[in-house]
Amino acid sequence: MSRAVCPGSFDPVTHGHLDVIGRTGRLFDEVVVAVGNNVSKNALFTPQERVDMLTEACSGWPNVTVALFDGLLVDFCATHDINVIVKGLRLVSDFDYELQMAQMNRELTGVDTVFMPTAPRWSYVSSTLIREIAGLGGDVTAFLPGPIADRTLRRVADRKGGNHPDAA
Ligand code: PNS
Repeated sequence: MSRAVCPGSFDPVTHGHLDVIGRTGRLFDEVVVAVGNNVSKNALFTPQERVDMLTEACSGWPNVTVALFDGLLVDFCATHDINVIVKGLRLVSDFDYELQMAQMNRELTGVDTVFMPTAPRWSYVSSTLIREIAGLGGDVTAFLPGPIADRTLRRVADRKGGNHPDAA
C-alpha cells in the first residue's frame, strides 16, 4: 500500500493546492493532507477550520484524508507509516527552500520528497496573495472553491468589522 503526505498551511486551500492533491491521489493508494497546526498571527483561519475546509474540498476523492499535525513533518510521517512527501512546485523561486527541506527531511529519517509541478494555470496562485487581495477588497473567487471563497470573504469582512472570530 503506497501512502503519501501533502503537507502545508492551506490558509486557505486554493485550486493550486487541490490540483496537486488530486494528482497525488492518482499516483498513490492513500494520501494524507497534513495541515500544520501553527497558529500564526497573520492566519486567516484556525488550523481546525482549514482541516474542515479541506475535508469538504477533498470529499470527492475517497483515498484522500485530512489531518492536523504538530511538530516535525518527519515524525508525522513515521507515525502514519508514510514514506513519501509530495510538494507542489509553482515557480523556480519555490525550489531553493523546498530542496533544502527535502534534503533535511531525508537526512532526519530517510523520508523522500517528490516534487510535483503545479498546473501552469495555477502557478501564480498562493494563499498569501489570496489573503492580501481579499483583505484589500479584490475578487478572489477564481482561485478557490466557491464555499471557501465565500468563507474567506466573510472572514475578511468580519475582521474589518472588528470581529475576530476564532482565528488568531
Ligand atoms: O504551506 P507551507 O507554509 O509551505 O507549509 C510548510 C510546512 C507546514 C509543510 C512546513 O513548514 C513543515 O513541514 N513544517 C513542519 C515542521 C518541520 O518539520 N520543520 C522542519 C522542516 S525541514
